[in-house]
Amino acid sequence: MSASPDLEKLRTFYADAPDDVSLDALDLGRLPRHISIIMDGNGRWATARGLDRSKGHAAGVDSLRETITASVRLGIECLSAYAFSTENWKRPRHEVELLMRLFSKTLAKEMPLFHQEHVRLKIIGDMDGLPKSLRASFERAMEETASYDVMTLALAVNYGARDELTHAMRAIVSEVQAASLDPESIDEDTLAAHLYTAGLPDPELLVRTSGELRLSNFLLWQLAYTEFYISPLMWPDFDRWELLRAIYSFQSRDRRFGGVK
Ligand code: IPE
Ligand code: IPE
Ligand code: MG
Repeated sequence: MSASPDLEKLRTFYADAPDDVSLDALDLGRLPRHISIIMDGNGRWATARGLDRSKGHAAGVDSLRETITASVRLGIECLSAYAFSTENWKRPRHEVELLMRLFSKTLAKEMPLFHQEHVRLKIIGDMDGLPKSLRASFERAMEETASYDVMTLALAVNYGARDELTHAMRAIVSEVQAASLDPESIDEDTLAAHLYTAGLPDPELLVRTSGELRLSNFLLWQLAYTEFYISPLMWPDFDRWELLRAIYSFQSRDRRFGGVK
């Protein structure tokens, strides 16, 4: 279960609700421990407004900040967000460079938020493939926030689920070869412990924005029994209210996990 939220702060943050959402309709005792988000649609949001795609990525940062704060207010234990996939290197070089600069700039600017809200940052993905200075900034930020326990933000950067599983496989085989791991003892927990998400609970709710119905190589192992919520909103339009709608939807599901109720 998630930590119980500070009700006064939660009500203040969620004041002035639109007609279709009300905090009172939420079951605070049955919130997902881990919410995962595929933040999609920045480019389309910008193009629809006659703007450069870069403006969409910049606006997407505001949505992420709002979603982090909303999740903290709700007492969510872990929020994971897909920021850059192993496939996104295929984009034009200027867009890739822009995104890398945006990550550096945003990290520097948002550190006070992590300290203020006691959010632990964990980067999931292959950090070796990132520009050296960005990697160093991420490592420093992870060290500085390592002791915070209000919420973990697992930011997926240079993340690909197949890459993650391949890395895990390699690490497991090395341990077997070094005789520190008995192949007979390998089980699901062994594999989970070798993923970038080691130590985090599996997501209970996955949100993808922009209406797309695919995983795009995100958390293939971890999403095995996750509930999906597809939002029609482009990521820059996502806000605290749409997060509530996703959680309402989650709370209305009958989760059977293969059994019978
Ligand atoms: C998501 O928005 C952000 C990243 C993948 C970095 P997109 O850039 O994919 O936006 P669309 O899907 O082209 O609209
Ligand atoms: C998925 O979005 C990756 C991120 C949100 C970082 P994409 O826009 O890259 O996915 P596709 O290309 O539509 O599958
Ligand atoms: Mg996209």
